[in-house]
Amino acid sequence: MATDRRKFLKQFGTSVILTSASLTSLAAKEEHERRILQAEKRISSNDKIRIATIGMGIMGFNDTRAALSVPGVELVACCDLYKGRLDRVKELYGPNIFTTGNYKEILSRKDIDAVIVATSDNWHVPISIDAMHSGKAVYSEKPMVHHISEGLKEIKAQRETKAVFQVGSQRVSSIAFKKARELYQAGAIGKINSIEASFSRQSALGAWQYTIPLDASVQTVDWDQFQANSKAKHDYDSNRFFRWRNYREYGTGVAGDLFVHLLTGIHFITGSKGPNKIFSIGDLDYWKDGRNVPDVMSAVISYPESPEHPAFQTTLRVNFVSGEGERSTTKIVGSEGVIDMSDGGGFTIRKRKMPVAPGYGGWDSFDTYPEAMQKAIVEEYNKKYSAADQQAPKMDDVIYHEPEGYNDSNEHFANFFDSMRTGKPVVEDAVFGFRAAAPCLACNDSYFENKVIKWDPVNMKLG
Ligand SMILES: NC(=O)c1ccc[n+]([C@@H]2O[C@H](COP(=O)([O-])OP(=O)(O)OC[C@H]3O[C@@H](n4cnc5c(N)ncnc54)[C@H](O)[C@@H]3O)[C@@H](O)[C@H]2O)c1
Repeated sequence: MATDRRKFLKQFGTSVILTSASLTSLAAKEEHERRILQAEKRISSNDKIRIATIGMGIMGFNDTRAALSVPGVELVACCDLYKGRLDRVKELYGPNIFTTGNYKEILSRKDIDAVIVATSDNWHVPISIDAMHSGKAVYSEKPMVHHISEGLKEIKAQRETKAVFQVGSQRVSSIAFKKARELYQAGAIGKINSIEASFSRQSALGAWQYTIPLDASVQTVDWDQFQANSKAKHDYDSNRFFRWRNYREYGTGVAGDLFVHLLTGIHFITGSKGPNKIFSIGDLDYWKDGRNVPDVMSAVISYPESPEHPAFQTTLRVNFVSGEGERSTTKIVGSEGVIDMSDGGGFTIRKRKMPVAPGYGGWDSFDTYPEAMQKAIVEEYNKKYSAADQQAPKMDDVIYHEPEGYNDSNEHFANFFDSMRTGKPVVEDAVFGFRAAAPCLACNDSYFENKVIKWDPVNMKLG
């Protein structure tokens, strides 16, 4: 660890609270103003960024809202396979928004600069690749791929087309994750050795039993298109369409859906390219509604030593039947502390260092020796170790809160549009997105095939 980094850390003295007012609020405000100026400077009628969203479900609406929070961005068109969602688009954004059930009609329009791909996981890659070849910038929801075999193809398409392509895992743009990374890199927790991260839920909606509209049928849903790229075809089933996460044919289970957020944050903070060994276990414990993916899953993942970091181990867990209720945790543990990012909104760094002296007494063999021996041991010990050596150094926690009202999805979109406007690299490119997604999908393979999966994180290939 470079000494200048150590010095920098010492500035975060006793009981340090990094408040949003002192460190972030002002910077965030300035950043927002800079974007307005930049957008205004370029705005003529053709200079706005004109977007379309493909997949207008829960995230499609959320992503569209976040995208439109960025100055100089305009919604032109939306695409979805359920008619009611296209009606909803017109209710919210007006009758002039072009709507269609065929994404190719979006891609062929010359007046659209960027598309958001917020479909079910099975369509991310085909639509994103088509969109890049049609000259669009692409914001693709996570996980970047449905199958590991798709990753290098998508990276190649991005390289060939040079399209602006960003994956939609917003932790990469989060101000708290950026601050945690800065402190991690400055040595705040010593040498990293392990990470624990999880999501716990205890509700039907949390377990993906989303509301189904009353008119759901083959008349209102383009079922053939939805399963067009699936090998196994099924008769129309509203559960499969509106609760697709529960089926491997269209979704990626808890690993692809939620582990991917955890690994994205972990890779961002540690700078890691990824693990080399992945093992997971799972169980369908409670939500036996026809789904073919587990509702409780745990993974053990091994990160080898690399130029970016020492070797460390990661355990991931998703539990949809958790008596703990709704929680998420990320604890990054090092030899001298832990970065605890649990439950979002910021983090706490608790620092602990071992004293030089090993100590005696307590849960120890010391008390089992005759009194004279105990006395001699204490004398010897006090000669060997100074009073300071016998104490664990006092180190204070660092607490960081995000600014009030802060939204990392808005920030992630602002970064995406900045890359379109300025040509600077995106914050989460296809290589990063694939390196986060592939180990998560390997967790599914490990569970379904009951084996350890080997992964080459540098070349992004299964071992
Ligand atoms: N970044 C995040 O925090 C975050 C949060 C939630 C969901 N997501 C991701 O967003 C994606 C969508 O999730 P959701 O919860 O919004 O699902 P959803 O079921 O609510 O919406 C998906 C929509 O995609 C449409 N669709 C599917 N295939 C299509 C196709 N070929 N052409 C056009 N439309 C198509 C469906 O009609 C559906 O309305 C998922 O990949 C999910 O992983 C990301």
